Amino acid sequence: MVKQTILITGGAGFIGSAFVRLLVRKNIRPIVLDKITYAGDLGRLDQVKGRFTFHKVDICDKKKVKGIFKKARPTLIVHFAAESHVDRSIIDAQAFLRTNIEGTQVLMDAARQVGIKKFLHISTDEVYGDTRRGSFIEDSPLRPSSPYAASKAAADLLIKSYMRTYGFPAIIIRPSNNYGPWQYPEKLIPLAILKASRREEIPLYADGKNMREWLYVEDCVEGILSVVKRGKNGQVYNLGSNEERQNIELVRMLLEIMGRPKTLIKFVKDRPGHDTRYYLDSSKVRRDCGWQPKITLKTGLKLTVRSYLENKSWLLNKHRRIAALYTDRSYNYGF
Ligand SMILES: NC(=O)c1ccc[n+]([C@@H]2O[C@H](COP(=O)([O-])OP(=O)(O)OC[C@H]3O[C@@H](n4cnc5c(N)ncnc54)[C@H](O)[C@@H]3O)[C@@H](O)[C@H]2O)c1
Repeated sequence: MVKQTILITGGAGFIGSAFVRLLVRKNIRPIVLDKITYAGDLGRLDQVKGRFTFHKVDICDKKKVKGIFKKARPTLIVHFAAESHVDRSIIDAQAFLRTNIEGTQVLMDAARQVGIKKFLHISTDEVYGDTRRGSFIEDSPLRPSSPYAASKAAADLLIKSYMRTYGFPAIIIRPSNNYGPWQYPEKLIPLAILKASRREEIPLYADGKNMREWLYVEDCVEGILSVVKRGKNGQVYNLGSNEERQNIELVRMLLEIMGRPKTLIKFVKDRPGHDTRYYLDSSKVRRDCGWQPKITLKTGLKLTVRSYLENKSWLLNKHRRIAALYTDRSYNYGF
């Protein structure tokens, strides 16, 4: 890889921190920008402490972002920072529109000023909406269902407009559902592990038949790195694992790994507008960037369970803070 100055936004989040750890393992010293919202935690980067440069900053803060860019002069940006949880976007969409759309615009404008060579935007499979059959290719229409997905789709469109209007050197990556160590326990897998470890009921929306494609976070960040190396500016790449399961099957797999009974599963009222199924055709990234996932769902879940049980105090601490974040009792979170 040509010598790059790499700037990562959202590097204290779940996937961003895995990407920072990967770069550091490759002896790269990235610059990390993160606001440290409720979802951000520098503790995820403890094992690479001192091996990256950190700026605590809101990506919507135009003046600060431009100042950092002018000084650091990044050549490559990988943009993870976002409000990322669908349920929270249903309760209040504002922070999603601000960070996910406006924040992306601020970053692109700052990047243009320093003549960036590559801007990788981490989008999501949720921009396509759901489908009962088949898979989404990169040119499938964007039909987002939740305010979260709509904010991500809006950012994708804004980026495409910058590509066409200014020749902005961007790439969009759309990963499927990630799982693995250090994910905030508002998300299904860490929440289910926490509940199962305490022999508490595990909430599942509706009948648990919604389907997702599960990608181990280490495979995801390896995929992103393959796009950094071989991806072409102006392109979109889907990043999926082909590991498709109903939510109920997934939770049953977790319970089996943990030796807990299936009777812990409790069905709760469905999420409004809940997408039934996402599934990506990821042949383009496999063909053009030479990436393929290495961790099967079964192995990934075992590694994930082990990691949360080894770091149970982290999981419990985060979970304790959830009650303060989710105060609307008319909504069925199951926390
Ligand atoms: N988790 C998934 O399954 C998944 C799947 C597909 C795509 N994605 C996308 O990948 C990216 C990372 O997801 P994640 O699961 O790691 O999210 P996360 O919520 O764990 O982390 C988001 C990070 O962004 C930071 N952040 C939020 N608002 C900010 C702001 N205004 N300024 C600066 N930093 C800010 C947070 O502090 C946090 O560290 C997101 O863009 C998300 O949309 C996630």
